[in-house]
Amino acid sequence: MGTVLTVMNMKGGVGKTTVATHIAGIAPRLKLDGKEYKKVLAIDYDPQFNMSQALLPAKTYFQLEQERSTTLSILVDSNTDLNPYELQVAGNYNPPPVAKLATNIYSPRAHGGKLDIIPSTLDLMYVALGQSENQTKPMEERFEKFLADCRDNYDLTIIDCHPAGSLFTKTSLKNSDHVLIPVMPQRYAVRGIGLMMKFISAKKASEKSPKPHILFNNVSRTKLSDQEIQIRNNPDYRDHCLTHTLKKYTAFSEPEEGRGFVWASRKPYSTEAFANLISVTRELFQRMGLR
Ligand SMILES: Nc1ncnc2c1ncn2[C@@H]1O[C@H](COP(=O)(O)OP(=O)(O)OP(=O)(O)O)[C@@H](O)[C@H]1O
Ligand SMILES: [Mg+2]
Repeated sequence: MGTVLTVMNMKGGVGKTTVATHIAGIAPRLKLDGKEYKKVLAIDYDPQFNMSQALLPAKTYFQLEQERSTTLSILVDSNTDLNPYELQVAGNYNPPPVAKLATNIYSPRAHGGKLDIIPSTLDLMYVALGQSENQTKPMEERFEKFLADCRDNYDLTIIDCHPAGSLFTKTSLKNSDHVLIPVMPQRYAVRGIGLMMKFISAKKASEKSPKPHILFNNVSRTKLSDQEIQIRNNPDYRDHCLTHTLKKYTAFSEPEEGRGFVWASRKPYSTEAFANLISVTRELFQRMGLR
Protein backbone atom coordinates (compact mmCIF):
# COMPACT_ATOMS: atom_id res chain seq x y z
CA MET A 1 0.00 0.00 0.00
CA GLY A 2 1.35 3.39 -0.97
CA THR A 3 2.22 6.36 1.20
CA VAL A 4 0.63 9.81 1.02
CA LEU A 5 2.60 12.99 1.72
CA THR A 6 1.05 16.44 1.92
CA VAL A 7 3.24 19.52 1.54
CA MET A 8 1.65 22.28 3.57
CA ASN A 9 2.22 25.48 5.47
CA MET A 10 -0.48 28.04 6.27
CA LYS A 11 2.10 30.67 5.41
CA GLY A 12 2.29 31.60 1.71
CA GLY A 13 5.40 31.70 -0.43
CA VAL A 14 7.57 29.43 1.73
CA GLY A 15 8.34 26.98 -1.07
CA LYS A 16 5.53 24.42 -0.80
CA THR A 17 5.18 24.10 -4.57
CA THR A 18 8.94 24.20 -5.19
CA VAL A 19 9.55 21.45 -2.64
CA ALA A 20 6.56 19.29 -3.68
CA THR A 21 7.44 19.56 -7.38
CA HIS A 22 11.12 18.75 -6.90
CA ILE A 23 10.56 15.84 -4.53
CA ALA A 24 7.91 14.39 -6.85
CA GLY A 25 10.27 14.82 -9.81
CA ILE A 26 13.34 13.31 -8.16
CA ALA A 27 11.57 10.43 -6.37
CA PRO A 28 11.07 8.11 -9.37
CA ARG A 29 14.62 8.90 -10.47
CA LEU A 30 16.16 7.76 -7.18
CA LYS A 31 17.39 4.24 -6.74
CA LEU A 32 15.97 2.99 -3.48
CA ASP A 33 17.45 -0.02 -1.72
CA GLY A 34 19.58 -0.51 -4.79
CA LYS A 35 16.71 -1.83 -6.89
CA GLU A 36 13.27 -0.47 -6.16
CA TYR A 37 11.88 2.32 -8.27
CA LYS A 38 8.98 4.42 -7.26
CA LYS A 39 5.64 4.99 -8.86
CA VAL A 40 4.84 8.56 -7.92
CA LEU A 41 1.72 10.69 -8.30
CA ALA A 42 1.75 14.46 -7.87
CA ILE A 43 -1.61 16.06 -7.02
CA ASP A 44 -1.90 19.80 -7.44
CA TYR A 45 -4.45 20.81 -4.78
CA ASP A 46 -4.00 24.57 -5.11
CA PRO A 47 -6.37 26.58 -7.36
CA GLN A 48 -3.35 28.71 -8.34
CA PHE A 49 -2.05 25.59 -10.24
CA ASN A 50 1.63 26.58 -9.92
CA MET A 51 2.75 22.97 -9.71
CA SER A 52 0.85 22.16 -12.90
CA GLN A 53 2.55 25.08 -14.65
CA ALA A 54 5.98 23.90 -13.52
CA LEU A 55 5.46 20.32 -14.67
CA LEU A 56 3.27 20.56 -17.76
CA PRO A 57 3.66 22.33 -21.12
CA ALA A 58 0.94 25.00 -21.40
CA LYS A 59 -0.70 23.26 -24.35
CA THR A 60 -1.01 19.96 -22.47
CA TYR A 61 -2.29 21.75 -19.39
CA PHE A 62 -5.11 23.51 -21.21
CA GLN A 63 -6.11 20.30 -22.94
CA LEU A 64 -6.27 18.43 -19.61
CA GLU A 65 -8.23 21.27 -18.08
CA GLN A 66 -10.72 21.16 -20.93
CA GLU A 67 -11.08 17.38 -20.54
CA ARG A 68 -11.60 17.93 -16.81
CA SER A 69 -8.62 15.73 -15.96
CA THR A 70 -8.01 17.91 -12.92
CA THR A 71 -8.24 17.81 -9.14
CA LEU A 72 -11.71 19.38 -9.38
CA SER A 73 -13.05 16.10 -10.80
CA ILE A 74 -12.01 14.29 -7.61
CA LEU A 75 -14.49 16.46 -5.70
CA VAL A 76 -17.38 17.12 -8.09
CA ASP A 77 -18.81 15.53 -11.22
CA SER A 78 -19.60 18.40 -13.51
CA ASN A 79 -18.50 21.99 -13.81
CA THR A 80 -21.32 23.05 -16.08
CA ASP A 81 -23.08 24.75 -13.19
CA LEU A 82 -20.06 26.11 -11.36
CA ASN A 83 -21.19 29.34 -9.89
CA PRO A 84 -19.56 31.10 -6.96
CA TYR A 85 -22.95 31.95 -5.51
CA GLU A 86 -24.49 28.53 -5.91
CA LEU A 87 -22.71 26.19 -3.61
CA GLN A 88 -21.58 22.87 -5.02
CA VAL A 89 -23.06 19.61 -3.95
CA ALA A 90 -21.40 16.51 -5.29
CA GLY A 91 -23.83 14.64 -7.50
CA ASN A 92 -22.57 11.27 -6.44
CA TYR A 93 -20.25 10.01 -3.75
CA ASN A 94 -17.87 8.15 -6.06
CA PRO A 95 -14.89 9.89 -7.64
CA PRO A 96 -13.52 8.79 -11.03
CA PRO A 97 -10.70 6.22 -10.87
CA VAL A 98 -7.21 7.70 -10.51
CA ALA A 99 -6.24 6.03 -13.82
CA LYS A 100 -8.77 8.31 -15.54
CA LEU A 101 -7.47 11.57 -14.07
CA ALA A 102 -3.70 11.01 -13.93
CA THR A 103 -1.42 12.01 -16.80
CA ASN A 104 2.04 10.50 -17.17
CA ILE A 105 4.95 12.95 -17.41
CA TYR A 106 7.94 10.69 -16.80
CA SER A 107 8.36 6.98 -17.42
CA PRO A 108 11.80 5.71 -18.36
CA ARG A 109 11.81 2.44 -20.23
CA ALA A 110 14.71 1.12 -18.17
CA HIS A 111 12.66 0.51 -15.04
CA GLY A 112 9.15 0.61 -13.65
CA GLY A 113 9.33 4.02 -12.02
CA LYS A 114 7.05 6.80 -13.22
CA LEU A 115 5.70 10.23 -12.39
CA ASP A 116 2.05 11.04 -13.06
CA ILE A 117 0.27 14.31 -12.31
CA ILE A 118 -3.25 15.47 -11.65
CA PRO A 119 -3.19 19.16 -12.44
CA SER A 120 -5.27 21.79 -10.71
CA THR A 121 -7.55 24.47 -12.07
CA LEU A 122 -8.63 27.93 -11.01
CA ASP A 123 -12.19 26.54 -10.99
CA LEU A 124 -11.32 24.79 -7.71
CA MET A 125 -12.00 28.23 -6.24
CA TYR A 126 -15.70 27.62 -6.64
CA VAL A 127 -15.66 24.70 -4.25
CA ALA A 128 -13.28 26.50 -1.87
CA LEU A 129 -15.99 28.95 -0.94
CA GLY A 130 -17.62 28.54 2.44
CA GLN A 131 -20.03 25.62 2.64
CA SER A 132 -22.12 23.85 5.19
CA GLU A 133 -21.15 20.42 6.44
CA ASN A 134 -23.74 18.48 4.45
CA GLN A 135 -22.45 20.11 1.29
CA THR A 136 -18.79 19.31 1.93
CA LYS A 137 -19.39 15.77 3.13
CA PRO A 138 -19.79 14.23 -0.36
CA MET A 139 -16.53 15.90 -1.41
CA GLU A 140 -14.73 14.65 1.67
CA GLU A 141 -15.98 11.15 0.98
CA ARG A 142 -14.97 11.32 -2.68
CA PHE A 143 -11.50 12.59 -1.77
CA GLU A 144 -11.01 9.79 0.76
CA LYS A 145 -12.06 7.09 -1.75
CA PHE A 146 -9.83 8.65 -4.40
CA LEU A 147 -6.81 8.61 -2.11
CA ALA A 148 -7.44 4.94 -1.31
CA ASP A 149 -7.28 4.31 -5.07
CA CYS A 150 -4.00 6.31 -5.22
CA ARG A 151 -2.52 4.15 -2.45
CA ASP A 152 -3.36 1.01 -4.44
CA ASN A 153 -1.68 2.31 -7.59
CA TYR A 154 1.29 4.40 -6.46
CA ASP A 155 4.17 3.96 -4.02
CA LEU A 156 4.01 7.63 -3.18
CA THR A 157 1.38 10.34 -3.65
CA ILE A 158 2.51 13.93 -3.07
CA ILE A 159 -0.09 16.66 -2.60
CA ASP A 160 0.75 20.36 -3.01
CA CYS A 161 -1.68 22.36 -0.88
CA HIS A 162 -2.64 26.00 -0.89
CA PRO A 163 -1.88 28.17 2.15
CA ALA A 164 -5.22 28.35 3.95
CA GLY A 165 -7.46 26.46 6.31
CA SER A 166 -10.06 25.01 3.92
CA LEU A 167 -11.79 21.92 2.64
CA PHE A 168 -8.59 21.25 0.67
CA THR A 169 -6.18 21.40 3.58
CA LYS A 170 -8.60 19.47 5.78
CA THR A 171 -9.15 16.59 3.32
CA SER A 172 -5.49 16.50 2.40
CA LEU A 173 -4.27 16.18 6.00
CA LYS A 174 -6.98 13.70 6.89
CA ASN A 175 -5.86 11.32 4.16
CA SER A 176 -2.09 11.72 4.52
CA ASP A 177 0.46 9.67 6.44
CA HIS A 178 3.02 12.48 6.47
CA VAL A 179 3.03 16.25 6.19
CA LEU A 180 6.10 18.10 5.00
CA ILE A 181 6.22 21.69 6.25
CA PRO A 182 8.63 23.87 4.31
CA VAL A 183 9.81 26.86 6.34
CA MET A 184 11.78 29.81 5.07
CA PRO A 185 14.02 31.18 7.81
CA GLN A 186 12.40 34.58 8.13
CA ARG A 187 10.44 36.56 10.68
CA TYR A 188 7.13 34.92 11.71
CA ALA A 189 8.37 31.49 10.58
CA VAL A 190 7.81 30.14 14.11
CA ARG A 191 4.21 31.29 14.07
CA GLY A 192 3.61 29.51 10.78
CA ILE A 193 4.89 26.25 12.27
CA GLY A 194 2.85 26.71 15.47
CA LEU A 195 -0.29 27.16 13.39
CA MET A 196 0.49 24.09 11.31
CA MET A 197 1.06 21.93 14.38
CA LYS A 198 -2.27 23.07 15.81
CA PHE A 199 -4.01 22.37 12.54
CA ILE A 200 -2.47 18.88 12.31
CA SER A 201 -3.54 17.93 15.82
CA ALA A 202 -7.05 19.45 15.51
CA LYS A 203 -8.90 16.23 14.65
CA LYS A 204 -11.33 13.81 16.15
CA ALA A 205 -9.85 11.40 18.68
CA SER A 206 -10.53 8.45 16.35
CA GLU A 207 -8.58 9.99 13.46
CA LYS A 208 -4.90 9.42 12.87
CA SER A 209 -2.65 12.49 12.54
CA PRO A 210 -0.07 12.66 9.79
CA LYS A 211 3.53 12.72 10.97
CA PRO A 212 5.03 16.21 10.61
CA HIS A 213 8.45 16.91 9.07
CA ILE A 214 9.86 20.43 9.07
CA LEU A 215 12.15 21.35 6.17
CA PHE A 216 14.11 24.62 6.21
CA ASN A 217 13.96 25.93 2.65
CA ASN A 218 15.68 28.70 0.71
CA VAL A 219 18.47 28.53 3.26
CA SER A 220 21.69 30.52 2.87
CA ARG A 221 24.64 28.42 1.73
CA THR A 222 26.98 30.31 4.02
CA LYS A 223 25.32 31.12 7.31
CA LEU A 224 22.88 29.68 9.81
CA SER A 225 19.92 31.96 10.50
CA ASP A 226 18.65 32.93 13.96
CA GLN A 227 15.18 31.66 13.02
CA GLU A 228 16.51 28.22 12.15
CA ILE A 229 18.44 28.03 15.45
CA GLN A 230 15.37 29.16 17.37
CA ILE A 231 13.09 26.54 15.77
CA ARG A 232 15.66 23.74 16.10
CA ASN A 233 16.02 24.59 19.81
CA ASN A 234 12.28 24.52 20.46
CA PRO A 235 11.45 21.22 22.20
CA ASP A 236 8.06 21.08 20.42
CA TYR A 237 9.63 21.21 16.97
CA ARG A 238 13.17 19.85 17.42
CA ASP A 239 12.42 16.21 16.65
CA HIS A 240 10.41 17.07 13.55
CA CYS A 241 13.19 19.06 11.82
CA LEU A 242 15.10 17.46 8.95
CA THR A 243 18.86 17.74 9.47
CA HIS A 244 19.35 18.58 5.81
CA THR A 245 18.07 21.90 4.51
CA LEU A 246 17.09 22.89 0.97
CA LYS A 247 19.43 25.72 0.01
CA LYS A 248 18.66 28.83 -1.97
CA TYR A 249 19.53 28.04 -5.60
CA THR A 250 18.21 29.90 -8.61
CA ALA A 251 18.08 26.45 -10.21
CA PHE A 252 15.10 25.57 -7.98
CA SER A 253 13.10 28.59 -9.09
CA GLU A 254 13.56 28.31 -12.85
CA PRO A 255 11.64 25.23 -14.05
CA GLU A 256 8.67 25.89 -16.28
CA GLU A 257 6.42 23.73 -18.43
CA GLY A 258 8.30 20.56 -17.45
CA ARG A 259 11.71 21.97 -18.41
CA GLY A 260 14.78 23.35 -16.63
CA PHE A 261 14.80 20.98 -13.63
CA VAL A 262 18.12 20.26 -11.92
CA TRP A 263 18.06 16.63 -13.07
CA ALA A 264 18.13 17.80 -16.69
CA SER A 265 19.91 21.17 -16.52
CA ARG A 266 23.57 21.99 -17.20
CA LYS A 267 23.43 25.48 -15.79
CA PRO A 268 25.99 26.63 -13.20
CA TYR A 269 25.17 25.35 -9.71
CA SER A 270 22.65 22.84 -11.06
CA THR A 271 24.89 19.95 -10.04
CA GLU A 272 25.17 21.32 -6.49
CA ALA A 273 21.44 21.96 -6.31
CA PHE A 274 20.80 18.43 -7.62
CA ALA A 275 23.02 16.91 -4.88
CA ASN A 276 21.26 19.08 -2.29
CA LEU A 277 17.84 17.90 -3.45
CA ILE A 278 18.93 14.26 -3.32
CA SER A 279 20.21 14.50 0.27
CA VAL A 280 16.99 16.21 1.42
CA THR A 281 14.82 13.62 -0.35
CA ARG A 282 16.79 10.65 1.00
CA GLU A 283 16.53 11.95 4.56
CA LEU A 284 12.81 12.64 4.18
CA PHE A 285 12.16 9.15 2.74
CA GLN A 286 14.14 7.60 5.59
CA ARG A 287 12.04 9.50 8.13
CA MET A 288 8.92 8.35 6.28
CA GLY A 289 10.09 4.74 6.38
CA LEU A 290 10.13 4.59 2.58
CA ARG A 291 13.60 3.01 2.45
N1 LIG B 1 15.16 26.67 -2.37
C1 LIG B 1 14.83 27.70 -3.15
N2 LIG B 1 15.77 28.36 -3.87
C2 LIG B 1 15.44 29.41 -4.65
N3 LIG B 1 14.20 29.89 -4.81
C3 LIG B 1 13.21 29.27 -4.12
C4 LIG B 1 13.47 28.15 -3.27
N4 LIG B 1 12.29 27.76 -2.72
C5 LIG B 1 11.34 28.59 -3.21
N5 LIG B 1 11.88 29.50 -4.05
C6 LIG B 1 11.16 30.59 -4.75
O1 LIG B 1 10.33 31.25 -3.79
C7 LIG B 1 9.08 31.61 -4.36
C8 LIG B 1 7.94 30.97 -3.57
O2 LIG B 1 8.02 29.57 -3.71
P1 LIG B 1 6.74 28.64 -3.93
O3 LIG B 1 5.86 29.19 -5.00
O4 LIG B 1 7.24 27.26 -4.09
O5 LIG B 1 6.04 28.86 -2.52
P2 LIG B 1 4.59 28.36 -2.04
O6 LIG B 1 4.71 28.14 -0.58
O7 LIG B 1 4.15 27.23 -2.87
O8 LIG B 1 3.71 29.64 -2.33
P3 LIG B 1 2.08 29.73 -2.22
O9 LIG B 1 1.80 29.91 -0.77
O10 LIG B 1 1.77 30.92 -3.05
O11 LIG B 1 1.53 28.45 -2.77
C9 LIG B 1 9.12 31.13 -5.81
O12 LIG B 1 9.51 32.21 -6.63
C10 LIG B 1 10.20 30.06 -5.80
O13 LIG B 1 10.82 29.93 -7.05
MG1 LIG C 1 2.33 26.99 -3.96
